[in-house]
Amino acid sequence: MEASKYIFNQESYSVNAGEVTWESPSNIALVKYWGKKENQIPANPSISFTLNNCHTLTTVKYEQAEQLSFEVFVKGKREKSFEPKIEQFFSRIKEYTPFIVNLKLEIHTENTFPHSSGIASSASGLSALALCIVSIEKELDSTMSDAFFKGKASFLARLGSGSACRSVYPELVVWGENTSFENSSDLIASPFSGAHEVFKDFQDTILLVDKGQKVVSSTVGHNLMHNHPFSEQRFAQAHNNLKDLKKALIEGDLKMFTKIVESEALTLHAMMMTSNPYFILMKPNTLKIIEKVWEYRVKHNLNLTITLDAGANVHLLYPKSESEQALALIEGTLIDFCENKGYICDEVGLGSVKV
Ligand code: PMV
Repeated sequence: MEASKYIFNQESYSVNAGEVTWESPSNIALVKYWGKKENQIPANPSISFTLNNCHTLTTVKYEQAEQLSFEVFVKGKREKSFEPKIEQFFSRIKEYTPFIVNLKLEIHTENTFPHSSGIASSASGLSALALCIVSIEKELDSTMSDAFFKGKASFLARLGSGSACRSVYPELVVWGENTSFENSSDLIASPFSGAHEVFKDFQDTILLVDKGQKVVSSTVGHNLMHNHPFSEQRFAQAHNNLKDLKKALIEGDLKMFTKIVESEALTLHAMMMTSNPYFILMKPNTLKIIEKVWEYRVKHNLNLTITLDAGANVHLLYPKSESEQALALIEGTLIDFCENKGYICDEVGLGSVKV
């Protein structure tokens, strides 16, 4: 697939003023994207669960103007600190959406999860904004198909934040060219619908170990994979893990699922600890939670699985049938390792929706 497919090239058009709203969820990677090339191309393929409850709701009000201008409001209050990231997003996408250079925009956004929870809002936030921009494009090109619409939203979201391209789609979503998933692409994500039904309502309880700002951003982390001593092995491993995970997902093999997903989480953090400069995003309580989950899993013969994103919080993944035991462990033990006993119950979700 060529990126040029997504260039809007209608010659004359005029935008009527209007507004559009999209809700888009966060996602949690099972095989992790860590390391990128130019133009937000991933160094290795990844797959994620789209979440349900953690999402961003974004409304864009737009009207024709001499030049691009925008303001961002969070829960009705102007939030200038968000504007540089969005400015960068617009400068990256304007080659594909030239009509934005003649728009005046008001962007109203809010998350369902607490802003200072240590949960990255870039995946949900930038996918919601990308979807709004493609909705404006659809006003100018009414022939646009639904498949093209989602593909373009994923393409644009990727330019804002890599993992955001996966949030456009439901359930299990693959991004990055690989030989295990047909039609996989570095430019857009695509949904994988062949998984066993146990994964349809998989649970993700996010244990909020540290609600603070990350000490190292994921942009810096991705860049440290250039000249990393283990990068080539890591990228090869991600391809293999994706192949093995696909099999586990199809067969409903929970033991294999746990083995691959936990190895991926720990490898991600091992990459951080072995880059130059090195850094650690886990906290002592991250390890305490992992230890307790592993102990309890063996004792009760369960399939509770931990994963981490680029932070200290632990995502506890489990089949819905194990919810009762998982919640007993969380309430009885794990909340003591969470900041202010905080955790968020989420589960696999159906992806972005137009409101
Ligand atoms: O999309 P970014 O640039 O914030 O990177 C996300 C990286 C991880 O969350 C650690 C892994 C992933 O695949 O989502």
